[in-house]
Formats: sequence, structure tokens, C-alpha cells
Amino acid sequence: MRLRIPRPYESIATQSEPVVSSKAKVIAFANQKGGVAKTTTTLNLAAAFAEEGHRVLCVDMDPQGNLTMSQGIDPDTLDRSMFDVLVHDMSIREVIRKREIDVACASIDLAGAEIAMSTKIGRERSLEKAFRAIEEDYDFICIDTPPSLGLLTINALTAAHKVIVPVQCEYLSMRGLIQLQNTLSMIRENLNPDVDIEGILPTLVDSRTIHAKEAIEILEENFGDRVFASRIKKTVRFAEAPVRGMSVLKYDPDGMAAQSYRELAKEVLGNGKR
Ligand SMILES: Nc1ncnc2c1ncn2[C@@H]1O[C@H](COP(=O)(O)OP(=O)(O)O)[C@@H](O)[C@H]1O
Ligand SMILES: [Mg+2]
Repeated sequence: MRLRIPRPYESIATQSEPVVSSKAKVIAFANQKGGVAKTTTTLNLAAAFAEEGHRVLCVDMDPQGNLTMSQGIDPDTLDRSMFDVLVHDMSIREVIRKREIDVACASIDLAGAEIAMSTKIGRERSLEKAFRAIEEDYDFICIDTPPSLGLLTINALTAAHKVIVPVQCEYLSMRGLIQLQNTLSMIRENLNPDVDIEGILPTLVDSRTIHAKEAIEILEENFGDRVFASRIKKTVRFAEAPVRGMSVLKYDPDGMAAQSYRELAKEVLGNGKR
């Protein structure tokens, strides 16, 4: 095991001690490919942080509203959502629902936000600006993003300190990572100089197949220790939990699925294997 120099937030965030820092650490979950477990990872890592005693907000930036739905909230019934926050500068507090985790909700109208914001001055910074009012209320803000690198994702990457990239362990899924890295470089140059990848997370791992093993090897060859030591294996629990409006940590607390996100939380909090 190699030595790691703790990053500033790690020195104050241990498993038993909640973060003392007054401002939330903002993590965006991004990958322009759909179906790679962005939403699943946002919710379940957030739930694992909450289990450790941290105050956590999840922000749904995907017009599909899957994160909102997976906490048992029907996006079609919402009279206000992240659309109003981004486009009309409504306070983000107005769209937060308290469930297992606090969720700033999305609905389908968010699909029109990119066009509605396109003429707004500071359009890339709307989310960052919205967070100022609540950054002392939470230890972590976890942002779920849509499967594109458009203005909604750019807002998330501009507001974030770190990015977690869930990757489905298939060769073709990994090629998109280069494009994401290019977008991040652009964000660093123009909008958010310090944003960086916290880690790349292999998801939907089918450990029985040789292909999955090879795909992880290719990932590690190309991205080295940016790849988390945690692996998220394929299990139907991840499809079952959202139907009940729960994280897997609540739905099946003793299961392997829940455990894998607890391990990821430890890695992110600085107590993990990596
Ligand atoms: N580890 C896993 N094993 C099995 N199914 C999973 C796993 N992670 C996510 N899923 C399922 O895969 C689908 C896509 O996941 P999701 O988190 O919605 O991806 P994204 O947000 O990247 O589009 C969902 O139906 C989800 O329940
Ligand atoms: Mg999603």
C-alpha cells in the first residue's frame, strides 16, 4: 500500500467524527453515458454518508427525475423544481423534500432549462450560486447529472469540488471517459480551476465474466489510482430498492449491495483501502 497525503477535508472527516468544516463538500456524479449507475451511486453513496452521521443533500439535475423518484417522490406532482432554481433564481430550499435523504427535486420541465438559461448572464454558475444559501446546512451535497455534457452538467461541474465517475465495466463504455476529461479541462480553464476527479467507480460489475475483469484492467492501466478500490457488483437489489422509494442501505441493510456503497463512502472519506 502506498502512502497518501491527506487532502484538507480528509484530515477533519473520520468515520466517527462528522465533518467539522462549515461548508459542504460538493460532489458531482457524471458520465455522459446513460445507464452506468450515476443515479444509483448518487443516492446510495449519499445514504452511506448519512449513516456515518453526515448531513447530506442530493440534488437531482436530470429532467428524467430518477433520483427524485427513487426517494418515493412523483416528479409529475411537483409544482416547483430545480428548473425554478436554475431559471428563476428561486431559493433551493423551496425545492428540497425531506425523505430518507434531503432531495432537491427535478421534474420533466428541467428539460427546458438549458434553452431557458441560454441567454442568462452567468448561466454556467446558476447552481453554484444556489448552493451559497445552504452550503453551511450540509456536510455533503451530491449532484446527480443527466446523460449529456450540456449546460445542466456544466452547472454541476462548475458547482462541484470533486467528480465521481461511475463506469460500466464494458470496453465501449470506457471510451467516453476521454470526452468527459476534455469537458473537465475546459471547466477548469474557464469556470472552476480546482475541480478534479475524486475517483472512477466500476459499476454493474459481473465478476463471473472475463470481459469485466479485462475492462477493469484497461481502466486501471489508463487511469491508475484514480480508479476506486471499491467495485459495485451487479445485483437486482439496485432495481428493487427505488420501487420502494429507498436506498439499498435502507432496503437491504445487511446485503452486499449496501456494503459496497459503505466501502465506497469510507474510501471517499479517506479511511478506505485506496
Ligand atoms: N450494481 C447494479 N446492479 C444491477 N443493476 C443496477 C446496478 N446499479 C444500477 N443498476 C440499475 O441499472 C439501471 C441504470 O442505473 P442508473 O443509476 O439509473 O444509471 P444512470 O443514472 O447512469 O442512467 C437502473 O435500472 C438501476 O436500477
Ligand atoms: Mg440517472
